[in-house]
Amino acid sequence: MVKQRILTGIRPTGALHLGHYVGALENWVRLQDEYDCFFLIADYQALGDHLDDIDGIRRSVIEVTLDWLAVGLDPQRSTFVIQSYIPEHAELTVLLSMLTTLGTLQRNPTLRAEMKELDTKNPSVGFFNYPVSQMADILLPKANLVPTGDDRLPHIEMTREIVRKFNRSYGPVFHEPQALVGRVPRLVGLDGQAKMSKSLDNCIYLGDDEGTVNRKVMSMYTDPTRIHATDPGHVEGNPVFIYHDAFNPDAEEVQELKERYSAGRVGDVEVKRKLAAALNDFLEPIRERRNYYQQHPDLVGEALLEGTLHAKGIAETTMSEVRDSMRISKYVE
Ligand code: TRP
Repeated sequence: MVKQRILTGIRPTGALHLGHYVGALENWVRLQDEYDCFFLIADYQALGDHLDDIDGIRRSVIEVTLDWLAVGLDPQRSTFVIQSYIPEHAELTVLLSMLTTLGTLQRNPTLRAEMKELDTKNPSVGFFNYPVSQMADILLPKANLVPTGDDRLPHIEMTREIVRKFNRSYGPVFHEPQALVGRVPRLVGLDGQAKMSKSLDNCIYLGDDEGTVNRKVMSMYTDPTRIHATDPGHVEGNPVFIYHDAFNPDAEEVQELKERYSAGRVGDVEVKRKLAAALNDFLEPIRERRNYYQQHPDLVGEALLEGTLHAKGIAETTMSEVRDSMRISKYVE
């Protein structure tokens, strides 16, 4: 039986952190057996709001690939893709942007929220159009499933809408992709903010060493209403316990800590020490593999280039179908 295809991606705007792991990577690693997976480094898309940091994008392409290899994404089974090496991404983005109305983008709730968060009040057209670029990413390999953050669901819905419109107008070229959301759709930051994010400086990175993890965990927010270790504490919504639940495999230890915390029989320090230990156990094999690949840059390059070559062939086939069905680009015999 032919495997269903998956495409998902990440913008190269920094190394990956624990939020990426539970929200995405862990899922991706698992999906590799069952599906034909394409993992995209969306560097065109990163330019949308990082045009002044091309050095950072260049570094991040490699950092992200190291993180992928470190967590167990496997270029033997899956396809790693650099978006800009396949100009068909740009070509399909242009064509799909003709089918997408301004209103559709203006109403997209994710895009609206992101525009508000940007440093600038006057974002580039490229940024505004990124959901269309993401559609092209999904449709070029004709992906069936798209693992994605819960915040990106409107983009998948929009993709389905444009697919219907395309097929109605030009014939059945694409099928409608479906979204797949991770185990912990959004991991709170170390400071308790809704999301781990590089710009808020509230993340633990997959490549952080043991000392850094210990230090960051010790600085984590806990229950602000609790002043003494003997005060009954709140477990619900407490970042330290959210992380215990997400990363400590010893469910009994976590349960026992929660009970003692609620009863005012354990201090923050002990809860944090146990969390740091669990996180370091979790991260150690990832760090080791990351170091290995860091010392073998030829393997990293090979994973990227071979995957991209494979994806390029598929993209070319899809694009000729698109051009033929739209009856463009062939005006002269
Ligand atoms: N938009 C995603 C992000 O900001 C990355 C991405 C690019 C993507 N193309 C995609 C995700 C296609 C899913 C499908 O991280």
